[in-house]
Amino acid sequence: MANSLLRIGIAGCGQAARIHVERLLKEPDVKIVGCADALRESAQALAASIAETSGESPAVFGDLRGLLDQRPDAVAIFTPHLLHYRQAMDALQAGVHVFIEKPLSTNAQEADDVVNLARGRKLKVAVGHQYRLRPSLVEARKRLAADAVGPLRLVTAALAQPWLARQQERGGESSWRFDPKMAGGGLLADAGDHLVDALLWTTGRPALEVFAVQSRLPSGLDVVTAAAIRLEGDVAATLALSGVSRGSLFELNFFGERGRIHATDALLEVDPGDGSPVRRVDLPEAAESVDANFLAALRGLGPLSCSAEDALDTVRLSEAVARSAATGQVVPLI
Ligand SMILES: NC(=O)c1ccc[n+]([C@@H]2O[C@H](COP(=O)([O-])OP(=O)(O)OC[C@H]3O[C@@H](n4cnc5c(N)ncnc54)[C@H](O)[C@@H]3O)[C@@H](O)[C@H]2O)c1
Repeated sequence: MANSLLRIGIAGCGQAARIHVERLLKEPDVKIVGCADALRESAQALAASIAETSGESPAVFGDLRGLLDQRPDAVAIFTPHLLHYRQAMDALQAGVHVFIEKPLSTNAQEADDVVNLARGRKLKVAVGHQYRLRPSLVEARKRLAADAVGPLRLVTAALAQPWLARQQERGGESSWRFDPKMAGGGLLADAGDHLVDALLWTTGRPALEVFAVQSRLPSGLDVVTAAAIRLEGDVAATLALSGVSRGSLFELNFFGERGRIHATDALLEVDPGDGSPVRRVDLPEAAESVDANFLAALRGLGPLSCSAEDALDTVRLSEAVARSAATGQVVPLI
């Protein structure tokens, strides 16, 4: 597959699909062969914009089945969260590689099924955790692995944004994001999934137990989460998410015994812990997009930045956070 044309199908033709398709079409030797959406007009609109950019018009389908009959090399899934599992399994059963926008699935059992089927079929499944390619987080992970601030003792991870207001503006309460079953939760399953993944990936430590509280709308949709987490190696972590705040915050603080690393999605600072000033670290440009990474992995040119297997701990921790908040109990993950 190294230099050959990659034929990609798109499932779910909303906002995220448009962003990914634009990036896919910037890569060489890629053809979008079909667009599937439950709303045919959404699939038609995306197909029309692809035709304008690439000069080739993808076929349009009302469901994934028709798209799979085209025998694409890979399918990229940009549908509501509850549908990720069934569509990924159908694609894998049809012998097709898969890219899934986050979250991998709405529960850990389904995530395991996807990983096992992909392994059995020797197919690749990528998950859209693009923060793993952010230079600030790549560098934080590298420094933590090298014990740059001494043994890690505590991590704080926080995300705050007007998430609820944005969803209300976007689709009103008819949007699938307001249906906790279809979305697999509220803020935690949506933007929060990136922070949960960043916490686990940068530290390289799975979660062992969690206690959480959440504020929810009457429908059950979580809009605020606070969780205390024990990570492997006796590292304590807190996760704080607010979807009813102004501004836009995405940050992690890693407290080692000899200093602190502060990372956002765009910057990295190190407090050497010896009284000298906090230093901002010069960072390179992001090397590639998740889309370019997926195509390169399909061509055998490198590993996936986040495979389904790599995303398992994130799904498990998010599920445990929601269960702890619902039951008022500490939830063990092992
Ligand atoms: N990585 C990120 O930062 C990021 C940002 C935005 C969205 N996303 C993710 O992308 C995915 C899609 O989100 P979105 O914002 O594009 O939502 P959206 O509502 O704009 O698009 C979803 C599309 O799926 C379609 N759909 C519904 N049921 C379907 C079915 N059975 N088969 C095919 N299509 C179906 C809808 O008609 C809609 O066009 C979600 O997983 C979301 O979390 C990720």
